[in-house]
Amino acid sequence: MQILDGKLVSQAVKEDLKNKTDILIKENKKVPHLAAILIGNNGASETYVASKIKNCHDIGFKSTLIRFDAAVNEAEVIEAIHTLNEDEDVDGILVQLPLPKQINEEKIINLIHPSKDVDGFHPISVGKMVQGLPSFISATPYGIMLLLQHYKIDTVGKHAVVIGRSNIVGRPMSILLSQNTNPGNCTVTLCHSRTQHLKEICLQADIIVAALGIPGFLKEDMVKPGAIVIDVGITRIEDKTKKSGYALKGDVDFENVAAKCSYITPVPGGVGLMTIAALLTNTYQAVLQKNN
Ligand code: GUN
Repeated sequence: MQILDGKLVSQAVKEDLKNKTDILIKENKKVPHLAAILIGNNGASETYVASKIKNCHDIGFKSTLIRFDAAVNEAEVIEAIHTLNEDEDVDGILVQLPLPKQINEEKIINLIHPSKDVDGFHPISVGKMVQGLPSFISATPYGIMLLLQHYKIDTVGKHAVVIGRSNIVGRPMSILLSQNTNPGNCTVTLCHSRTQHLKEICLQADIIVAALGIPGFLKEDMVKPGAIVIDVGITRIEDKTKKSGYALKGDVDFENVAAKCSYITPVPGGVGLMTIAALLTNTYQAVLQKNN
């Protein structure tokens, strides 16, 4: 069994971006600038956004954080997005999800200009991705593809089972794995909460992507020997032994599943770090596209 090390690979991606950014600075060219909108005080969202901003700083990108109170009205958020869309210095815009219930997620995502949609959530980005055209790809599935690519994992003709059909992970993941690309060329089964015989389907899988958000869901008896297991789950579980008061738990029962796998991603240290590396890659790409 080999660990797919998100820390190592994300560091390599960031190192490469830092070198490219150093060149931009040296040549007096535009430095990538990511703007993040964070609404409310969701602990996990705070941590993710803080990490996105810190990573921008580490590799030499500019960043802007716009915070709103949980009770903000939708019009104020819309106004902020319009301002960022029009700001020539801003290359990428993200609105951290989930949003408070008075704010319509679909409306907000649709307002981000597609040329700055570094999260890859806008229908134009998704439509291009589905057609295999160059586009911003949602950061978590994109990060998983970068991880598979780094380890030169042969996915051609393999049966990939994706558990979870969210717009930001499961659904785009299923499309990317099915495309005529490398990695890709899988036969994909997309499973969800209404799927029957999930265990039997998982037992047929060469690759399993667990993205349903239920800690420890994927058990040893659901995994074929030699399978590749990608764990997207990242749930906070109360743990008084930790300074933060919580531990991060994936969707895979790692302790029991790992020995059966050919490759597996750990939590933490797996997909989560790749998500940020992919977001930064999209932001760099946004600058290149502007210049072309
Ligand atoms: N919430 C959970 N994952 C993500 C992500 O990749 N981007 C944004 N904007 N919000 C999220």
